[in-house]
Amino acid sequence: MPNFQPFVMERMMSKWENQVDYNLSESGVHPATVRDLVPDPGQVEDLLSTEFVYSQANGIPELRERIAALYPGATADNVLVTVGCIEANLISLQTLLEPGDEMAVMTPNYLQVWGSAKNLGASVTTFDLDADRAWALDVDSLNRAVTEKTKLVAVCNPNNPTGRIMTSAEMDAVVAAAERVGAWLLADEVYSGAERLTDEVTPTFWGRYDKLFANNSLSKAYGLPGLRVGWIVGPPDKVDEAWARHEYTTITAPTLSHNLATIAVSPDVRPKLLERTRGYIRRGYPILEEWMQSHGDLFSIVPPDAAAIAFPKYRIDVNSTTFVERLFKEKKALVAAGDHFNVDKHLRISFGLPADYLRGGLDRIHEMFADIAD
Ligand SMILES: Cc1ncc(COP(=O)(O)O)c(C=O)c1O
Repeated sequence: MPNFQPFVMERMMSKWENQVDYNLSESGVHPATVRDLVPDPGQVEDLLSTEFVYSQANGIPELRERIAALYPGATADNVLVTVGCIEANLISLQTLLEPGDEMAVMTPNYLQVWGSAKNLGASVTTFDLDADRAWALDVDSLNRAVTEKTKLVAVCNPNNPTGRIMTSAEMDAVVAAAERVGAWLLADEVYSGAERLTDEVTPTFWGRYDKLFANNSLSKAYGLPGLRVGWIVGPPDKVDEAWARHEYTTITAPTLSHNLATIAVSPDVRPKLLERTRGYIRRGYPILEEWMQSHGDLFSIVPPDAAAIAFPKYRIDVNSTTFVERLFKEKKALVAAGDHFNVDKHLRISFGLPADYLRGGLDRIHEMFADIAD
C-alpha cells in the first residue's frame, strides 16, 4: 500500500517498551493479575477444565448480557465482543465508511481512528479540543469539520491524551453536528470508569443518538489490557454488519478471555476493578504533579479528569520525538511524544503505576531535561 499511514505511537511502543527500565508510555494503570480476577481456588479449578473451543464468535451470551447491562435499554443483541477496543474501532470504520467517504475526528486523539480511516481510503477532517481553554471542545471547529459529506463523526471521551471529560453540553454539540448531516457517531469510551476526581462513571453517548457505535474494552478502567477483550454497542443490524468484519479479522476473542471477561464485568467484581484503577490514578497523579512543580515553569498542564495519563506542555526548545528518542537511548525510559498526537512540545506521561517505579521513571525524564538544558 503506497500511502500506508503507520500508527507511529504504537510502532514505537511495540518496538521499545520492553527494552527500557521505566515504561511511562502506557495509557492504562499497572495491570491486574489473574489472581486479582479469580482469587477463589474453586474458580481456578473451573477454568482449568476449559476446553479451547472457538468461543461464540460475537461473545458468549453471559458476557454480552453483562456488557449490555451497563448500557440502559441495551440487550445482548446490541453487543459485539471484539479483541480489544482496537479491533472494535477498526471494524466500526470498516462498517461505517466506504473509500472516498468523509470522516470528522476529534484531535488531539489516539490516532488509530484517524490513521485507519485514511488507510481505508476515507478523507479525514479534524476538530479540536482547545489547548487554550483547558481542552474544552471547540464547537466552531466541530461545526466546520462536519459537512454535508461527513459520514462519520469520531470522538474519544474521556480523551487520550489529555484525560479531558466532555461536558454534557459538549456531548450535545457532537450529537447535534452528526444529526445535522445524518452521520454516524463513533464514541471511543475506553477510559470511562477511570475517573480521577469522581466515582461517577463518565456518561456514555449510548441513549443520546441512534446512529451510534459506543466502543470500549477491559484494557484501561479494568486494568486488564492483556485479556484483549473489547466491544461495540450499537443498533443490532449494524452490529451484525460489524460482526461480519470481525469474522475476517479475528473470528473471536480467546476462549479464556471470554470467560475471564465475564467475571470482570460481573456486578461484584467490576466495582473492585474500577476502584483498584482509580486508586492507582489518585495515588500517582500527586507524585507527577509534585515532580512537575519541582521544575519551576518548565511544565504547564491541564490536570486530567480521567485516565492514567497526563499531557504536559514543556518550555524548552526540543522536538518531542527527538526528546523521546534520546530518553529511550540515553536513559532507558519511555514516554509518548506530543508528535504522536500531532501536538509538539508535549509529552504524554503515564502515572497509574507503583510509586517507586513512577518516581524512578520521572528521575530519568528529569535527567534528560537536565542534559538537554546543559
Ligand atoms: C483511546 C483508545 N482507544 C483504543 C485503544 C486500544 O485499546 P485496547 O487495548 O482495548 O485494544 C487505546 C489504547 O491505548 C486507546 O487509548
